[in-house]
Amino acid sequence: MVKRFFSAFRAMLKSLLGHTWLLPSPSLSSSVSPPSAFMALFGAQKDKAEMRIHENLDELRTDLADYIAQLSEMSVKERGVFAIALSGGSLIGLMGKLCEAPYNKTVDWAKWYIFWADERVVGKSHADSNYKLAKDGLLSKVPIVPSHVHSINDSVSAEQAASDYEFVIRQLVRTRVINVSEINDCPKFDLILLGMGPDGHVASLFPNHSVLDENNEWVTFLTDSPKPPPERITFTLPVINSASNVAVVVTGGSKSEAVHLALDDVGPACPSLPARMVRPTKGKLVWFLEKAASSKLDSAQFSE
Ligand SMILES: *[C@@H]1O[C@H](CO)[C@@H](O)[C@H](O)[C@H]1NC(C)=O
Ligand SMILES: *[C@@H]1O[C@H](CO)[C@@H](O)[C@H](O)[C@H]1NC(C)=O
Ligand SMILES: *[C@@H]1O[C@H](CO)[C@@H](O)[C@H](O)[C@H]1NC(C)=O
Ligand SMILES: *[C@@H]1O[C@H](CO)[C@@H](O)[C@H](O)[C@H]1NC(C)=O
Repeated sequence: MVKRFFSAFRAMLKSLLGHTWLLPSPSLSSSVSPPSAFMALFGAQKDKAEMRIHENLDELRTDLADYIAQLSEMSVKERGVFAIALSGGSLIGLMGKLCEAPYNKTVDWAKWYIFWADERVVGKSHADSNYKLAKDGLLSKVPIVPSHVHSINDSVSAEQAASDYEFVIRQLVRTRVINVSEINDCPKFDLILLGMGPDGHVASLFPNHSVLDENNEWVTFLTDSPKPPPERITFTLPVINSASNVAVVVTGGSKSEAVHLALDDVGPACPSLPARMVRPTKGKLVWFLEKAASSKLDSAQFSE
């Protein structure tokens, strides 16, 4: 039985520039030695997680659009392309300002390559499809190149869909449409966008599920998702943690407890929350929080 007892980010938080907060580097609990796979994931954690807490959704939407547009510009300048992985849920709606002025004109959409950090194994026109959600809410409203949109094959099993998707990603790593990690041979996406469920799940990595232990595959599958639909594919933790940038976007008071458990120093009794395992090895991690979602953070007392 693998135990994932990590002492969190330290309780002390430093206030910078209004609503932007920086968390000191997380450290491992000295009382429990984690297995080496997790050392590799979380051991030498030098990067800082940044928290951006917003008074309201409108402010958050503007900041998120700015952030994505800036990363796109940087990435296109450095690599000629922007490889971005989306998720489902409320995230696409929160990205909506990208379809409006000025972003709809200023973003270099032709250089975007779109992927999904997780997908439901349903038809592309099904209401549960993350592809459909993104197509309706974003991709159909901006000049994305259709051949740059990499969605799953919806006519095969979850297992086959995961393995096909990994194959596609492997080809694009080979041609450097997606960069590659210097540490492992994992794809290094320019940006992976994640939401978080009230149970602390990210992508389709659910609490206590064996998908959390998948360290060999880039894309894995599950047929027993605790949240319907049951069949899904998902990026694994090594892929998420190899990205250049990861953003976790959380709104709503119903997620405030999970935000607390994911970010605060909750001591050795800390549950193995998937959101807590999102710790890019070299990349940058930003949490976008609506105020209600941040209300149970230890730091909430300082943000008044
Ligand atoms: C960009 O969005 C604005 C609305 O914010 C719209 O009026 C304009 O036509 C759009 N431009 C393009 C090029 O799609
Ligand atoms: C999806 O998989 C089926 C079965 O293997 C295959 O015939 C089809 O060409 C695939 N579709 C795409 C878009 O790759
Ligand atoms: C690609 O990733 C490598 C590390 O894996 C990094 O050194 C390099 O700067 C990246 N390339 C670009 C163009 O960003
Ligand atoms: C995960 O397992 C732990 C202990 O085994 C338990 O306390 C916790 O409630 C479980 N979480 C979920 C979401 O099932």
